[in-house]
Amino acid sequence: MEVKAKIAPSMLSSDFANLASETQRMLNSGADWLHMDIMVSLFFLCCYLCPESVNPEVVATLAYAELTTGHWVGIRIIVQLWKVMLYLFRHFVPNLTIGAPVIESLRKHTTAYLDCHLMVTNPIDYVEPLGKAGASGFTFHVETSKDNWQELIQRIKSLGMRPGVALKPGTPIGDVYPLVEAEAPVEMVLVMTVEPGFGGQKFMPEMMDKVRILRKKYPSLDIEVDGGLGPSTIEMAASAGANCIVAGSSVFGAPEPAEVISLLRNSVQKAQQKC
Ligand code: DX5
Ligand code: ZN
Repeated sequence: MEVKAKIAPSMLSSDFANLASETQRMLNSGADWLHMDIMVSLFFLCCYLCPESVNPEVVATLAYAELTTGHWVGIRIIVQLWKVMLYLFRHFVPNLTIGAPVIESLRKHTTAYLDCHLMVTNPIDYVEPLGKAGASGFTFHVETSKDNWQELIQRIKSLGMRPGVALKPGTPIGDVYPLVEAEAPVEMVLVMTVEPGFGGQKFMPEMMDKVRILRKKYPSLDIEVDGGLGPSTIEMAASAGANCIVAGSSVFGAPEPAEVISLLRNSVQKAQQKC
């Protein structure tokens, strides 16, 4: 079964002061979905600024090595880094947040599919508020939901939303298989093609192996790619098998967003015809 191309402009790159008119502008330009990045987390800021500092394997190896020497230099540096990040988090990160109140307000202006991408440490806390606010899709990160993904999926569905799972660049693709193969499965996998946190970063082509593996294994699954997508990178994502394309800066930064959206869609459709 062929999956449909969905182009989802990331509203993170929009003019937040005019969110309703920006969403309408994107829909008029041919957008299928509106991608809403919801982020409130020290964890994700750490991921962006220094991925090693939140990698348990790196921290454990360092701690083990330093245990034998008694010099805790590396661990001390990491703790200091965490403190700086905590400071940054307290002072700056909440400015990036789109939360349930914004979704609720936006819902009054549009019937569009609101594709919510949760970059938070406790996604379960947001299921009910977002469901009630009118979110359409609820994509949580596998890294933050190892112990409760079954419950999460069930609650997302019970609130009438479509469950999806996302994975960061450093997370092995195998981590999402159980969620796709579950009795109550996720309906989309979002492969991050940048470290989560900000728009305008450079696309990571090495993530395309994950997309290829997923497409081969699950021909009718919605596979979304997010980060650094635009005219110069879409071919790689489309030929690997991605069908849902999130694009922030490339769409909002273009003089004619409609042209970029149509180019992205054509690339996905052409790649599908070749298969
Ligand atoms: C990054 C976000 C993305 C971001 C994409 O953490 O998940 O959705 O807005 O923006 P671009 O397309 O500019 O990389
Ligand atoms: Zn996103």
